[in-house]
Amino acid sequence: MNYSFLKDRHILVTGGAGFIGHHLVKKIIKQKPAKLYIIDNLATGMLSNIEEFLALPEVEFINEDVAKPSAVESITDLDYIFHLAAVVSVPKSFEMPFLTHRTNESGFINMLELAKRLKVKKICYASSSAVYGEQNQMPIYETAQLNPQSPYGLSKLLNEQYAKAFYEWESISSMGFRFFNVFGPGQRANSPYSGVISIFLSRMQKGENIQIFGDGEQIRDFVFVGDVVQALLRGAQSEKTFGLYNVGSGQTTSLNELYDVLKNLTNYSKEPRYQEARKGDIKKSAADIELIKKELGYNPKFNLKEGLAKLIETA
Ligand code: NAD
Ligand code: UD1
Repeated sequence: MNYSFLKDRHILVTGGAGFIGHHLVKKIIKQKPAKLYIIDNLATGMLSNIEEFLALPEVEFINEDVAKPSAVESITDLDYIFHLAAVVSVPKSFEMPFLTHRTNESGFINMLELAKRLKVKKICYASSSAVYGEQNQMPIYETAQLNPQSPYGLSKLLNEQYAKAFYEWESISSMGFRFFNVFGPGQRANSPYSGVISIFLSRMQKGENIQIFGDGEQIRDFVFVGDVVQALLRGAQSEKTFGLYNVGSGQTTSLNELYDVLKNLTNYSKEPRYQEARKGDIKKSAADIELIKKELGYNPKFNLKEGLAKLIETA
């Protein structure tokens, strides 16, 4: 894909030191933007993810809380905002609802106000499949009734509602992307709040025990991080001024199947330990991705096996 529309532009990536954020930053830098601001307080992100870019004259790293208006005060010119900074873990959002609210909701409003002040062309932001909660109908279409089941899911739903309201009230263009379960190189594994693939892989490689919460029959759409970056950039590039899209691979895998695939890839021999299901854990999550394919030309390049092979190769 050619993303030359970013050349000579002023761009902000929040959460740019994080897992998805640093892959996006890498892709944007290649397009030679005039200025790339990265806001990240390193709560879960890592400076090492973006270290190679920090000396570039066009890059400015702002180590600040995205919810603070003062974090964006010095920015005076901006074309696009990619907003990824958030509390990302469902269990953490139950433990820390106020932090989740502050980061995810106040942080989002801070971005909308910035977009209004600087008349940005578009905000592309990370929503989540967590806005759907438990659904009967699979796969899930964007038109499904939203039913979040955690402070995290609720915060993402509020983002979407604010985005719609600011589009109508203030003509702020935005695209929200309901990422399903993203995986790939650079995802942290050393926290209980990390994504399941990074936890399983790292534990298997070290010969440590694996915990499966619930019966392992919960299903997820695991989408490779490169495809998620593709969705964000296609969204920014599109002429459309408002949108909400599922971003997945279009394929599902149960946790038990994931366990078996990774076990074979890593020659792991232990049996998993089944634990009580996590609060707010969704049983079935399967993305319908026809809308984003049709409207943005999204075309996922990696299935789970190919993505895992790439992940293991770089680990
Ligand atoms: P991540 O934790 O690696 O990235 C989040 C980044 O935000 C981190 O770098 C963190 O330091 C930063 N951050 C957190 N609080 C902040 C604050 N108050 N101020 C400034 N920076 C802050 O997680 P990720 O997987 O890269 O997630 C990126 C986005 O995608 C999030 O909005 C998340 O909710 C969303 N998302 C992720 C997934 C997934 O499966 N990984 C799925 C759906 C949605
Ligand atoms: C993930 C994302 C969330 C995103 C959502 C969209 C992370 C940390 N969370 O939430 O930001 O919005 O997808 O679909 O990236 N599990 C185990 N054992 C473990 C860890 C997890 O069995 O050691 C199970 C969980 O109970 C869950 C599944 O694996 O059923 C996936 O968990 P997790 O990777 O944390 O993701 P989600 O909660 O789906």
